[in-house]
Amino acid sequence: MKDKGKIIVGLVIFVAVFTFPFWYNHGAATQAPEPELTEKAKKADKCVEETAYMRKEHMQILDEWRDTVVRDGKRLYVNASGKEYMASLSNTCIDCHSNKEKFCDKCHDYASVDPYCWDCHTYPEEKE
Ligand code: HEC
Ligand code: HEC
Ligand code: HEC
Repeated sequence: MKDKGKIIVGLVIFVAVFTFPFWYNHGAATQAPEPELTEKAKKADKCVEETAYMRKEHMQILDEWRDTVVRDGKRLYVNASGKEYMASLSNTCIDCHSNKEKFCDKCHDYASVDPYCWDCHTYPEEKE
């Protein structure tokens, strides 16, 4: 079989060309997510805690809120600077970040996380 070499070279080229879009996208910089703020959030200017902290720890805050509400019946959250918020995913977080798809999902899709919270908790339909 003296054509074996040619077949292998052909196969390698085929695989390389065919899969190019896949490995190219993974190797090169994919766009970092850019979560958008609603007008309401922009006006409020601040999140419930410092932005850098929120970026890393928002899931812990939500866990903590759920526990205090469900186990202790406590619905008041006092942040580091003494400001009070109602401990609620839909009524507080999603009140400011009502653009879930352009805010929460922007990052989650990028990080491939899909919180199951929305099976039960509500968010408003996006309107343009
Ligand atoms: C009063 C309005 C308001 C509420 C309520 C609020 N946020 Fe925010 N959030 C903001 C604003 C404004 C920013 C951007 C702050 C900045 O630009 O420094 C922000 C930033 C964030 C960020 C970081 C975004 C980034 O670009 O890195 C996350 C994550 C976040 N919020 C999640 C939440 C979650 C989860 C809750 C509920 C526990 C919540 N927010 C409640 C207004 C709010
Ligand atoms: C700046 C990017 C960013 C924004 C904005 C953001 N998240 Fe997240 N979120 C993440 C990342 C990254 C993870 C995964 C973190 C990890 O696994 O440690 C995550 C995880 C979570 C989790 C835990 C999910 C799980 O399965 O463990 C919840 C709940 C959550 N986010 C809720 C929200 C909500 C609600 C909003 C919008 C109000 C929001 N996040 C906005 C980046 C973001
Ligand atoms: C199977 C349904 C279900 C799922 C899924 C679920 N929750 Fe809940 N959650 C509830 C119920 C029921 C309550 C109690 C409601 C009340 O007392 O106001 C609650 C309460 C909460 C509260 C406090 C009350 C409020 O208004 O928000 C937070 C915060 C919360 N959940 C966060 C989460 C997060 C974050 C996720 C996803 C990681 C999640 N939940 C997934 C059913 C669910």
